[in-house]
Amino acid sequence: MKISKLHKVTVYFMYCIVFVYTTKLTENTCMFDPRCKCYNSNLRVTCINKNITSDNIPHFPRSVQKLSLWFNLIEIIPRTTFNHMNNLTELDLSSNRLIYLEEGTFDGLSNLQTLSIKGNYLNYSFAIPNNIFKPLVSLKHLNVGWNNLFEQSYQFPTFPSDLLSFLDRLESIEVDAIQPDMIKLFKFPDPYRSLTHLKKLEICLCVLPYIQNVTFFNLQNLEYLDMHNCHMKSYDRWTLRNGKKLKYLDISQNDLTDESLSYLMSDLYFHDKLEILKMTNSFPSVYVFVPQYFAFDLNATKIKEIYANTNSFVEAVGTEKYFMLPPTLKVCDFANNKLSKFYFGMPYLSILNLRNNTLGAYLSTERYTNSSNTELKEVDLSFNFIQDLSFAIFHGHEQAVKIDLSHNKLTDVNFDLSHLVSLERLDLSYNNISGISSQTSMDTLRKLSKTSKLKIDLSNNLLKCSCQNLKFLQWMDANSDLLMHVTKYTCRFDNNNVIQLTNVNAVVKQLEKECSSFTTLIICITTGIIMSLFILSAGLVYRFRWRLRYLYYMTRHKYKIFQNIQSNTTYKYDAFISYANEETDFIVSEVIPHLERDENLKLCVHQRDFVPGEDITQNITNGIHQSRFTLCIVTQSFLDSYYCMFEFNMARMESIYSRAGQNILFLVFYEQLRPKDLPLVILELVQKQSYIEYPNDEQGNVVFWKKIAESLGSSE
Ligand SMILES: *[C@@H]1O[C@H](CO)[C@@H](O)[C@H](O)[C@H]1NC(C)=O
Repeated sequence: MKISKLHKVTVYFMYCIVFVYTTKLTENTCMFDPRCKCYNSNLRVTCINKNITSDNIPHFPRSVQKLSLWFNLIEIIPRTTFNHMNNLTELDLSSNRLIYLEEGTFDGLSNLQTLSIKGNYLNYSFAIPNNIFKPLVSLKHLNVGWNNLFEQSYQFPTFPSDLLSFLDRLESIEVDAIQPDMIKLFKFPDPYRSLTHLKKLEICLCVLPYIQNVTFFNLQNLEYLDMHNCHMKSYDRWTLRNGKKLKYLDISQNDLTDESLSYLMSDLYFHDKLEILKMTNSFPSVYVFVPQYFAFDLNATKIKEIYANTNSFVEAVGTEKYFMLPPTLKVCDFANNKLSKFYFGMPYLSILNLRNNTLGAYLSTERYTNSSNTELKEVDLSFNFIQDLSFAIFHGHEQAVKIDLSHNKLTDVNFDLSHLVSLERLDLSYNNISGISSQTSMDTLRKLSKTSKLKIDLSNNLLKCSCQNLKFLQWMDANSDLLMHVTKYTCRFDNNNVIQLTNVNAVVKQLEKECSSFTTLIICITTGIIMSLFILSAGLVYRFRWRLRYLYYMTRHKYKIFQNIQSNTTYKYDAFISYANEETDFIVSEVIPHLERDENLKLCVHQRDFVPGEDITQNITNGIHQSRFTLCIVTQSFLDSYYCMFEFNMARMESIYSRAGQNILFLVFYEQLRPKDLPLVILELVQKQSYIEYPNDEQGNVVFWKKIAESLGSSE
């Protein structure tokens, strides 16, 4: 039961499908022949790819206005096929196997405006009846191109132009033109001259390596000329000087010389209605400098679009006089060249395509225009080996909507974006950008996004997920609506782990945590380094404290001497006496009488000779410096006295730094001192140099004073 019910439903369902399908078919299938489809109640009929042959061509109703028999197997059209169809305006017989056209084939087609016999096997060695097109009194568009494809010998290369002489309404023609021979000139023959309405010429199968000024001699009124893929090798001077009415010229896909370019440009100067110039892949094999007069010649025209892409242009720079691109020019395409320089005035240009050149080095310091205001809407600088851009590159681009910088070597965004107030798309994909380091750039982008529909593409860059880059990642997180293709963002951590950056927020949070400890670590390390440097220098200062103090006083002393213009070649004193206050009696009663009175030496004794008012330390160093020797009366009090030790150390320094190591220190041990009571420096000196102990008895004293006086009296 259930199964049969299901079966019923299925059958019903299939029925429905078949019904819908057939009704749809009948809607289009022509009543008179199932191989054809009819539209608008037979006004338009198409019988395409139905293996229709000469023998079974359908019988078409009289009402048909547009008929296409495209892609069938018709070899010969019986002459009565179309004769009744005086409503026919368009007839498409392209891609059949027509070898020949029978006399009277087009009789009666007095309203036919468009006829295509393109892509047949028309062999011009068979005589096509001379008046075959005579009935076509309304014909405006004729396509007889691509009919020599199977002609082996190129014997009769050109469509017999005599056939055209009746078509005085003809406005456009698509035809083949073949003349591979360099010697023979190719010329569109004289019958073309009578076609006064002929404005458009498309050369289909085209082999014209050496095009000359006679070629278009009979085509005075051409407005549209398509010569793409013509195997042109050279363009001769004056080739397009006959008519001066061109609006559209396509010479793409040829192999022209740079000389041809200058000839062409100087011809175009006369076509003051020219709007579109296509030169895609026209000069592929020669390195071409865009001619000096480029902008000048074009300024004479009404040029709107130039396609000079896929050539080998190496430099396009306007010279002083001919610098401005024409004000009419809106589209300028120099993509896929070898440009290393590009510089023009372009205040009115709308689209500039410089994709796939080598402008990287140039644009790192220069701009491509000097115009302070441009109407540029789209600029394509992708594939240009750009590492960085000059700061002002986009200045004046207030109308720019789309800027493509993808597939370059950019590492950062530090050019000025602030003028790009209309920008909707900034493509930075496929670069080496690790992040935007400039806070200004980030702020600018954020600001721009508030007033425009700005989207930035940073996909296929290897961003950096590190603490240094945290600011940028935070910016990304906060401005995620600004970014496009976010699923293609990748990011590398410091440990070289690469992740898909799908969740920026999570990464930011993770990094914020890591980086705060990182910051603490940095602070600790820095503090540590500063501390140890401080300790080290403190240690050094302590270690060399005497040296430093000595140098300090000496410098001061020297400065003073310099001030007083004194000479320091001789010493003021023979000896500086260093002693503790407890030994004043000894100095007054023994030292001064014995050495000054008896031996006639001049002593420096602090109580007597120090300059009042002067700093005591300064007095000491001056005294030592001005004395030939320093005599230390060593006692326990001496060792305990701060100033005595100061004097001792200063004398030591004096000996090292001012007397070239000469010993100027005399130690007189006035008391018995145990070696362990002596400071290390004194002990060292005692072991190295002579010292004298005060004998403290009558005879010994006499010898003692003599010895002292001898030592002190010896100069040098
Ligand atoms: C046309 O002929 C070819 C080869 O005989 C055949 O494969 C194709 O199906 C035919 N097409 C039609 C629409 O009959």
